[in-house]
Amino acid sequence: MTVSVEAKGFSIPLVGLGTWALRGRDCARLVEQAIRIGYRHIDTAQMYDNEREVGEGVRKSGKRSEVVVTTKVQPTLLAPHDLERSVKESLARLRLDHVDLLLIHWPNPRVPLSETLGAMTKMKQAGYARAIGVSNFTVQLLNEATRVSPEPLVCNQIECHPFLDQRKVIDATRTHGMAVIAYSPIARGNAKGEGVLERIGKTHGKSAAQVSLRYLVQQEIAVIPRTSRLQRLEENFALFDFTLSEFEMAQIRELSLRNDRLVDWTWSPKWD
Ligand SMILES: NC(=O)c1ccc[n+]([C@@H]2O[C@H](COP(=O)([O-])OP(=O)(O)OC[C@H]3O[C@@H](n4cnc5c(N)ncnc54)[C@H](OP(=O)(O)O)[C@@H]3O)[C@@H](O)[C@H]2O)c1
Repeated sequence: MTVSVEAKGFSIPLVGLGTWALRGRDCARLVEQAIRIGYRHIDTAQMYDNEREVGEGVRKSGKRSEVVVTTKVQPTLLAPHDLERSVKESLARLRLDHVDLLLIHWPNPRVPLSETLGAMTKMKQAGYARAIGVSNFTVQLLNEATRVSPEPLVCNQIECHPFLDQRKVIDATRTHGMAVIAYSPIARGNAKGEGVLERIGKTHGKSAAQVSLRYLVQQEIAVIPRTSRLQRLEENFALFDFTLSEFEMAQIRELSLRNDRLVDWTWSPKWD
């Protein structure tokens, strides 16, 4: 069963596969197997250096037309000419004629957003992407991006898991009619072994990782957990046969007081 979140007429499956750090034949095999299990959302990026293998897995699955394939333009390539060239190179590596979601991976203060979003729009209008969006955008950047983008932006992909309070940016994303996609949704594996998540999981016959993911999808936040293990693909996809109570949701929400950010929000690549 594929359950999706809608944003501006675009449908994003609530569970996807993250592929950061997956490489080579293992990566292609995991992507193909995930799609066989029922995943319909695969997340890659120019920076992950695995678009070739991700594309191979998607094509081998025989289900290309059903899958939302996302790639992200790296922050050093956001000037229009670079962006346009890099998107064509991504498609060549993926060996696909279009991606479904094309995102700005990370903002680059050296390139005016209006120029980048103009180029993203051009890519969409040329048929290279079905929809465009952003990642790692703050409230302020979202306000600016939605104001200057000629085409609607459908999502903001951000770090999101029970140990981090992201309410402000989630609210802002939704105010603009965009979907939230959670990266690191099991806190890079840290959900496993966490007392509250383990205890709640036990009462539902589920793992702490599944509780972490369910907590997000129950709020209509799409999740893209990554695993390098075939057996965990099934575990991370089995999220729709249980429901967390209001009380359990509130208990999990309290974990966000830790404000445990895994990816440095102030991180920026060398812009030169
Ligand atoms: N837009 C951005 O800037 C950005 C930044 C970071 C990530 N992302 C995307 O989001 C995806 C997910 O984030 P992430 O890779 O940082 O972290 P994550 O999905 O939260 O965690 C991945 C880690 O959790 C382990 N794991 C997976 N399933 C598990 C389970 N059921 N029980 C226990 N451990 C489990 C994995 O180990 P095993 O391999 O051993 O299972 C791996 O070490 C990335 O792959 C990438 O596609 C985007």
